[in-house]
Amino acid sequence: MRYVLALDQGTTSSRAILFDKSGAIVSTAQQEFHQIYPQQGWVEHDPTEILTSQMSCAVQALVRAAAEPHDVAVLGITNQRETVVVWERETGMPIYNAIVWQDRRTADVCAKLAADGVEPMVRERTGLLLDPYFSATKVAWILDQVPGARAQADAGKLAWGTVDSWLIWNLTNGEGHKPVHVTDQTNASRSLIYNIVEGRWDEELLKLFRIPASMLPEVRWSSERVGEVNTSLGLLGIPIAGIAGDQQAALFGQLCFEPGEAKNTYGTGCFLLQNIGGKFLESKNRLVTTLAASTSRRLEYALEGSIFIGGAVVQWLRDNLGLIRSSSDVEALAASVPDSDGVVFVPGFVGLGAPHWDPHATGLLIGLRRSTKPGHIARAALESIAFQVADALEAMQQDSQAGTGIKLPALRVDGGAAVNDLMMQFQADVLGAPVIRPAVTETTALGAAYLAGLATGFWSGTEELRKQRTQDSRFDPGAGAKDMEASRVRWKEAVTRAMHWTS
Ligand code: G3P
Repeated sequence: MRYVLALDQGTTSSRAILFDKSGAIVSTAQQEFHQIYPQQGWVEHDPTEILTSQMSCAVQALVRAAAEPHDVAVLGITNQRETVVVWERETGMPIYNAIVWQDRRTADVCAKLAADGVEPMVRERTGLLLDPYFSATKVAWILDQVPGARAQADAGKLAWGTVDSWLIWNLTNGEGHKPVHVTDQTNASRSLIYNIVEGRWDEELLKLFRIPASMLPEVRWSSERVGEVNTSLGLLGIPIAGIAGDQQAALFGQLCFEPGEAKNTYGTGCFLLQNIGGKFLESKNRLVTTLAASTSRRLEYALEGSIFIGGAVVQWLRDNLGLIRSSSDVEALAASVPDSDGVVFVPGFVGLGAPHWDPHATGLLIGLRRSTKPGHIARAALESIAFQVADALEAMQQDSQAGTGIKLPALRVDGGAAVNDLMMQFQADVLGAPVIRPAVTETTALGAAYLAGLATGFWSGTEELRKQRTQDSRFDPGAGAKDMEASRVRWKEAVTRAMHWTS
């Protein structure tokens, strides 16, 4: 068997990538799907479209490599995290659209729980904080708002899962087969009802968020065989043995196995994750603690700075302002001016994540003058991505001084927007630390492939993976680093102004 197939079900597109034994990409397929915005602050996906787009990409990836299912040793799944799907056990039909991680409809519920004083307890057990970003309040919303749903759930007739669970249920739900209802440690750790200190669903939290235990998937290790495909003819018989939330998959794909090693993925959002080893530590600086993908069958942890809008700010320049034709044009537009000329752009389109956690923040563009040109706005947009990463990293370093003691050697980067040299140089300048970009920036899919391949012996162990590490570019802090202090102060002031804008 020559290949490992990774399914990368992301926020704006489904992708499938076939890797060979050297970790090189053999073929890829990608399909965007609809974003549904029923009301301000709400974001939904059609679960059926998630499934069909993902399946068609998987089959296309095989076709493009002229491969048959028997050429594929194993399949790994990585997914947009926190997004929830609730479906009927008997029919497999979703009872509502998927509520996406960016959705803020449960902001008031979270605010009320925080006012009740439960956040410290939630933080101690889950590593998270009370924000509509995480899964639990979205599941409760579906149970409360879809007619009859709560009664059905109480009667054990409904299943809940993140997108990994939804895909696996459907891939394994073939004629004469019982569907497999599982998730993995990394996805469970984003739910607000999973105790990551003890590695189990937490009864008190289930009660707090009013979610019946009968809906829950079984939690498995990220690198473990959970079943095989017995529905889609084009993938029939392929074992499924890797599951991880996309950010933990990227941490694994970047081979950040040692405490201190960190990566930032520039996708729809930006997600900075640092491996902190086998001991749970609560962030004192408004980061979250989360489970990392582990192959050791022991719980391993990461600190995370979750930034909701990263590369999506470039899409916004393209689709909402029409400043560029395609996303890749942003680099040239930003390079058409020497600096942002005082323009600061806070992309708080769906509120702000770490370290601010303000669901009521909005976007803000400030410092406009008669001389302001599209180039300045493009530059400010790219800078906003780097500034947000710097804020999250600063919180991580404060946690390090206060307790983890873990220093960051260099920042490993990946994801679509990491190909932008101008931004990577700016990122190194803002951080005052080196930024390293691997040759294969598809580390999310690679991580899922590695987890699946390690579980089935396709790869012998992490040493073999380390030998595959390639380094393409390194960006060291340069001349731009010296004026950074004043720019950071201006940026932080703008963030303050963007906060609490809606109520
Ligand atoms: O937590 C949300 C994250 O998993 C989404 O990732 O790559 O789809 O933006 P992405």
